[in-house]
Amino acid sequence: MRSHIRPMAILKIARMGHPVLRARALKIEDPTAPEVAQLVEDMLETMTDAEGLGLAAPQVHVSRRLVLFRVPPGGDVEDERVGRDGFPLLALVNPVVEALTDEMYWAWEGCLSVPGLRGDVPRYTKIRYTGFTPDGREIDVEAEGLHARVVQHECDHLDGILYPARMDDLSNLIFESEWKYHRRADDAKSDDAESEDAESDGQDIDPDDETDEEKALERAS
Ligand code: NI
Repeated sequence: MRSHIRPMAILKIARMGHPVLRARALKIEDPTAPEVAQLVEDMLETMTDAEGLGLAAPQVHVSRRLVLFRVPPGGDVEDERVGRDGFPLLALVNPVVEALTDEMYWAWEGCLSVPGLRGDVPRYTKIRYTGFTPDGREIDVEAEGLHARVVQHECDHLDGILYPARMDDLSNLIFESEWKYHRRADDAKSDDAESEDAESDGQDIDPDDETDEEKALERAS
């Protein structure tokens, strides 16, 4: 239930270097507590304002295990709030992520707590995640591709991990303003010969989804 006493608020986003982003966030005892619902509403407003794809509670200085994200195309979990971008939204309390494969793929990520930068980050291609929604529903989902990526990125925030710590090649940590040139170079490269790595399973970059995929990838979380 949303409180009608207190209006929603845009919260301040913690930036890399703030201790709250390095801490292990605490479990939420009651996912259905009204404070959790209120926090979700504030986080949604904050994320929407920042045009983010996802947001974790520690990013708004609340060291609790709560994440919020837009489920990219192909996702099959949603609540009633579909964003302007058409992606359904999921708020997840006490999420647990399990890799379902050793296979990784690399893609560019941004983070609202690491403003102005982009990095090419390896993530598991396939995961299972569980948790609770603030209305008490149990979530148990297998996810692939970008959906799996955004969940891994957000849940890392709960363990004090920012995406640069997941990178295997820091020469691919670049300014956002240079990113478009980098991507153009990558596109040119993948036109030659094998561009299989990130795309071979078809679960991620389906040409039909490319517009949505690209749209999503341009957004930080
Ligand atoms: Ni982030």
